[in-house]
Amino acid sequence: MIEKRNQVSNRRLGVLVSGRGSNLQALIDAIADRRLDATIAVVISNIEGAGALERARAAGIEAICISHRGWPSRVDHDQALARELRAHDVGLVCLAGYMRIVGAPLLEAFPDTILNIHPALLPSFPGLEPQRQAIAHGVKISGVTVHLVTGELDAGPIVAQRSVPVFDDDTAKTLAARILVEEHQAYAEAVQVMLDGGWRVDGRRFVRNRA
Ligand code: GRF
Repeated sequence: MIEKRNQVSNRRLGVLVSGRGSNLQALIDAIADRRLDATIAVVISNIEGAGALERARAAGIEAICISHRGWPSRVDHDQALARELRAHDVGLVCLAGYMRIVGAPLLEAFPDTILNIHPALLPSFPGLEPQRQAIAHGVKISGVTVHLVTGELDAGPIVAQRSVPVFDDDTAKTLAARILVEEHQAYAEAVQVMLDGGWRVDGRRFVRNRA
């Protein structure tokens, strides 16, 4: 892979969501607390009535639904998302519980500038229900990964990770709750790293340049 430079053009975030939006809330709170120097330009849900839309509106952020249903193809939906994000002059896209695969139109519109948060220590347990997968495998440590989105599911360059212990009496639910606390810290920190620049993608590695 050819080495690429930081391409985040501004501090305007576009957040894609499908559900309750606790990670969106963590970004909103980090911005309010000045731990994160960014603006959320728009929140887009593919699900009507997602709790995340309410959280955004309560914070005075424009929140819209672009359903994945009713388009001739997946590509058309992704193109509509890319158009909306561009119309809001978004520099960095954050997937926050967005339950769709990101296709070529979005990846091409935002090269190396789409982040995802996944509740496992990738490359272990990609895909659905990673907390259940971790328990079933019997790992003693799990955690959260924030990574760049590429064409391969949950496999892009890793920007940040945080670990948590897995206890013998954990269920997927108790483990998910422990990981979620770390997610909320890790996402704001990773977004700040992206926006601060001074990083590059080297093969499959996300590398911060030395000062
Ligand atoms: C989080 O666990 C996130 O890591 C995963 O989906 C969940 C979304 O939760 N991708 P929320 O909507 O941010 O509360």
